[in-house]
Amino acid sequence: MKINDEIIVNIEKITPKGEGLARFGEDKFVIFVKNALPDETIKIKITSKNKHYAKGEIIEIINPSKERIKPFCPLYNACGSCQMQICSYDYSTKLKEEILKDIFKQDENLILPIVKSPKTTCYRHKIQFPARETKNSKRVLLGYFKENSHDITNIKFCPIQPEIINNLTQFIRENYKLGCYDEKKHKGLLKNIVARISSSDNSILLTLVLNTNQEKFKQIKKEIISFAEKITKTFEEIKGIFVNFNDKKTNNILGETTIKITGCDFIIQKLNDKKLKIGAVSFFQVNPFASEKLFEIVKNNIKENSTILDAYGGVGAIGIFANNNAEKITLVEENKNAVQMAKENYELNNIENYEIFCDDAKKRFKIFKQEQKSFDYTILDPPRSGCEEEGLIDIASISKNIIYVSCNPITLKRDMEKLKELKFKPKFIQGLDLFPYTYHVETIILFEKE
Ligand SMILES: C[S@@+](CC[C@H](N)C(=O)[O-])C[C@H]1O[C@@H](n2cnc3c(N)ncnc32)[C@H](O)[C@@H]1O
Repeated sequence: MKINDEIIVNIEKITPKGEGLARFGEDKFVIFVKNALPDETIKIKITSKNKHYAKGEIIEIINPSKERIKPFCPLYNACGSCQMQICSYDYSTKLKEEILKDIFKQDENLILPIVKSPKTTCYRHKIQFPARETKNSKRVLLGYFKENSHDITNIKFCPIQPEIINNLTQFIRENYKLGCYDEKKHKGLLKNIVARISSSDNSILLTLVLNTNQEKFKQIKKEIISFAEKITKTFEEIKGIFVNFNDKKTNNILGETTIKITGCDFIIQKLNDKKLKIGAVSFFQVNPFASEKLFEIVKNNIKENSTILDAYGGVGAIGIFANNNAEKITLVEENKNAVQMAKENYELNNIENYEIFCDDAKKRFKIFKQEQKSFDYTILDPPRSGCEEEGLIDIASISKNIIYVSCNPITLKRDMEKLKELKFKPKFIQGLDLFPYTYHVETIILFEKE
């Protein structure tokens, strides 16, 4: 089998990246096929190959899955973000359960049925669109990068984000006149737009990420302020507009410094009886509806009057929601802006007995260990890369229970094996659909010290 060969394969299962997995030939060589479903027979063209696996694209679906349906998004093929729109929502969550069963094979008996998202469209309340422009007519393009490229799909309508964002991005396309970023030349001003929306009252914080620095910004400040005013006059939902400076050649969306141009510093997101202030650039889950489910799961597994460590705590959401009359909450988070919001959020929710450390988690875990601190429950909610081994060893030595919340089941599996070595026993594995129609799955595991 070589590149450009056309072959017929059967799809065995779905992979953690949402691709169909097929095996070909006597040696059962692995081939990954995008937009394929289990049990389908498909004619594919091989597009790439290495020693370990090949990739193929669909030419013809010879025998489609009985679950296959037409994607409801008109930009499904061009955008590529919601891979699982080729089947019903219920079946997509079943596939996510299969993904978890595959990854956590040895502990399959601990896997609970996946918790579905209460909303499956208009759920995405954080939008990050790169901004570019057409070569000759200089029309503004806003949307997601096409897969494996930096070409933009100009997204005028996206069914998984709130309607207001479609109107706001269209307004920016039509009214922004100061130029967009050209990656090849590393020139042009507007690099990205970031919008954060509260599902409680639809209020929005908008950040314009600019390819400039604070000094050079002075020359264009007047024009940016006037553009920001035009936006706030048109959209009463916009509560604050910010500028983030990102003049480096980088794939990172945000640079280090953000300043406010107009309006408020935060929006309020209500979650049951709690309220959270969320800033323009601090982390908060993208799907507030399913987040409530996530926080409930954590809360239901924390006994009253406990000491809680909310590690990688962001603006404090999980700890505030799950505190159950906690004796004390300790939050560790490295982002200064999120830490400031967390402090304000504790006060807003009348939580008095708290302490906050703006620090690298691994470094702070070591200090806690040296100080012989101990926690009844540690909530670990790290970024996709998971926890570093040294940090896990330290945190295991000072925690009685660990509730690990992860957006990446692969790094979670790795960290789970380490925690088992450290005598922590997994009690359940709970999948939760925070990202409907994508292949992503949030996973929560409760570990108890043996
Ligand atoms: C997945 S988010 C979880 C946030 C929070 N638990 C929530 O649900 O809103 C991960 C958080 O870890 C923070 N973070 C990333 N690396 C870190 C590190 N090395 N030390 C401390 N915090 C870190 C990020 O800023 C982010 O707020």
